[in-house]
Amino acid sequence: MRLEHKVFPDGEVYVRVPTDLREEVLIVYGLAAPQNQRLVELLIAVDAVQGAGARAVYAVIPYLAYARQDRRVLPGEPISVLAVLKALHAVGVSEVFVLEPHNPRVIGRAGFPVHAVSAAPAVAAFLRKEGWEDAFILAPDEGALDRARQVAAALHTQAGALKKHRDPHTGKISVRWTDLPIKGRRVVVVDDIVSTGGTMARAIQMALQHGAKEVAAVGVHWIGGSNAVRRLLDAGATFVAASESMKHPLSKCIQIDEVLASAVRSRI
Ligand code: R5P
Repeated sequence: MRLEHKVFPDGEVYVRVPTDLREEVLIVYGLAAPQNQRLVELLIAVDAVQGAGARAVYAVIPYLAYARQDRRVLPGEPISVLAVLKALHAVGVSEVFVLEPHNPRVIGRAGFPVHAVSAAPAVAAFLRKEGWEDAFILAPDEGALDRARQVAAALHTQAGALKKHRDPHTGKISVRWTDLPIKGRRVVVVDDIVSTGGTMARAIQMALQHGAKEVAAVGVHWIGGSNAVRRLLDAGATFVAASESMKHPLSKCIQIDEVLASAVRSRI
């Protein structure tokens, strides 16, 4: 069932549940841009669903906005991802399922059940379908290594990571190559988010410079526009793909319905 939805002239949003509810309700709602509006829509939708009689409300969030602000690097910063999750719980969500929430460990501190759903099985299935199952899976930084390893394990291939450092004050990034067995091989760079494409482009170029035969790029959440696609193709990517967690301009799309459905089935 779809909620009725409108935006008032002043920008405030409105939703309505068009029927009575007696059962447990699962709201599937991504928080891609405009993320602030989407977040308020989700919060008031939970209230609407409860008001319509739902016995319990669960949220499936294919893309969780604010997930990257997951720690206090400088004093006085928020842990935005926890604030967002706590707001959902406060309004009445009992459990949340998030596809690739950037830092699966931190969401466990939200104070209620929040489950990170790995996109690795979906990425592996996609690469198998594309005939790239023998590729080396490269994480553009160590934070992305667990995911890369999961993809590699599903494909019975290998994974490794580059070393990235971001200066907390200037935001300037430096990346170091590590000794990875990619000479003459196909490589797939896998990351959770592609925004400007800078992180992926750097990894693609480094892999090619270090002897990769071909490099493809897979981002789970494509929050960048077509400029990011151009950037990755210019860096030398054979193809670029992303999941359907939000709309994107890519022709290659990774299906995520099965990983999300099986995560929900295992809990509810
Ligand atoms: C950062 O920690 C994320 O995992 C991504 O690597 C990052 O958001 C990608 O951003 P961009 O495409 O702008 O380099």
